[in-house]
Amino acid sequence: MREYRNHVLICGGPSKCGSDCGEHDVETLRSELISLLKEMGLRERVKVSTTNCLGAKEPGPIMVIYPEGIWYKEVTSGWLKQIAEKHLAGGEVVEPLLIHEMAPSRRRSE
Ligand code: FES
Repeated sequence: MREYRNHVLICGGPSKCGSDCGEHDVETLRSELISLLKEMGLRERVKVSTTNCLGAKEPGPIMVIYPEGIWYKEVTSGWLKQIAEKHLAGGEVVEPLLIHEMAPSRRRSE
């Protein structure tokens, strides 16, 4: 198994929490993120998976990034570059999308 530094989970529903993740094309979102990561040379260290409902109860698509335990809402294609560059490459949280932070002390920038 590769030594991933991050695992990105993208919720694709079906919803059990009321979020609308399942109404978005999360497979395309996943493919777009993987393409971006390849362009940036980060693909080998970031695992990207789709998942069922995560129980966020926030507007989707929901994305969770480990090991930081950062939860983002409304992750559309337009935000992927910022997530890849700022969070996955730079270790910083994309604040406008943040809905939950499981372990603030795990941020690489702190
Ligand atoms: S449908 Fe519940 S978190 Fe995505």
